[in-house]
Amino acid sequence: MAKDVLIPAQRLEDFVARIFENAGCAAGEARDVAVSLMGANLTGHDSHGVIRVPRYVGYLKDGLVVAGQTIEVVSDAPSFAVVDGRLGLGQTIGRQAVKLGIGKAAATGVAIVALRRSGHLGRIGEWAEMAAEAGQVSLHFVNVSGPGLVAPFGGVERRLSTAPVAIGIPQQGTDPVLLDFSTARVAEGKVLVAQNGGKKVPDDALITPEGKLSGDPAVLYGPVGPGETPNPRKGKGALRAMGEHKGSGLAIMCELLAGALTGNGASGLGTDRPFANGMLSIYMSAERFVAADAWSEEVREFVAAIRGTRPATPGGEVLMPGDPERRTRKQRLAEGVPLPEPEWEAIRESARSVGLNDSAV
Ligand SMILES: NC(=O)c1ccc[n+]([C@@H]2O[C@H](COP(=O)([O-])OP(=O)(O)OC[C@H]3O[C@@H](n4cnc5c(N)ncnc54)[C@H](O)[C@@H]3O)[C@@H](O)[C@H]2O)c1
Repeated sequence: MAKDVLIPAQRLEDFVARIFENAGCAAGEARDVAVSLMGANLTGHDSHGVIRVPRYVGYLKDGLVVAGQTIEVVSDAPSFAVVDGRLGLGQTIGRQAVKLGIGKAAATGVAIVALRRSGHLGRIGEWAEMAAEAGQVSLHFVNVSGPGLVAPFGGVERRLSTAPVAIGIPQQGTDPVLLDFSTARVAEGKVLVAQNGGKKVPDDALITPEGKLSGDPAVLYGPVGPGETPNPRKGKGALRAMGEHKGSGLAIMCELLAGALTGNGASGLGTDRPFANGMLSIYMSAERFVAADAWSEEVREFVAAIRGTRPATPGGEVLMPGDPERRTRKQRLAEGVPLPEPEWEAIRESARSVGLNDSAV
């Protein structure tokens, strides 16, 4: 594994914001992108962090995503909306769509927002965190339109996207319970991290066209030359769905809810569809369902009971969803964000490509 460099979080965030300003974003949007990418690194989801900078800069240059977009409301009612992200940056479009949903649920008790044609929405847990900060329970089903990356249970061909799901439960006076994962055995970005010299993926995360299980990133990207950005369209194999038939079934539902129902387009139906995230989000004001005190107490007791479960192994512990991310955030804020040297070099190369020199770091 390549050696990591350790970069203070604020310095890295500022550098990434400057890259996106130079790539054509207004200062506020550039900062939002940097904050979101850093949020992924800080929570330990390096796959959705600054490793994405070269790709996003490339998308902006090629017009595959557009700076400065606002959501277009396609249809609207007090408790739901269908919105089109018009291929704007996911960090901008996601914030707008989530704010809309939170506002509607605050007024009516529950709201559904169907988002189509957004640029990459990154770490989906960020959107559940936003809702939790507003005191709301939220569920998010996500898909990626395009040719697909993940083989359904029992198959070897790419049909599904990595289709993440996030659910956030706010807790009074403490951090939310936050479940956030890709329905693929590993997110595509984790294969990207491995390709760039970071942590390896499990050796059953991928499947070759011949049906052989593998952990080799080449199954997904094909051969990658020096300085080349890994492109999953160049590989012949597929990622595998998590959890056998159950994970595959959940991914299928994400395609139908976040792809078909939002109008984003399901994955696996052709290569001519642009890369876009679709997201079906449900927001609930918990206190409209149960008395706020009773709800808070029940959540607190339940969380304590889960954490208090006798561990399966001596010295082990039982965590709540969201605990590992919180720990990593604390550690990385104190110690810095580790990046494999090839990844760091790829980010600096992106910075040079938009006219920043190395002294900007
Ligand atoms: N935008 C997109 O199109 C897209 C696509 C795929 C994935 N993603 C994002 O990729 C990120 C990574 O996904 P992933 O599948 O690699 O996540 P993962 O496998 O690391 O799972 C993360 C989830 O499991 C929980 N968890 C981890 N260890 C735990 C433990 N010991 N006990 C209890 N809970 C534990 C975490 O709190 C978190 O909720 C997510 O943020 C996801 O939203 C985005």
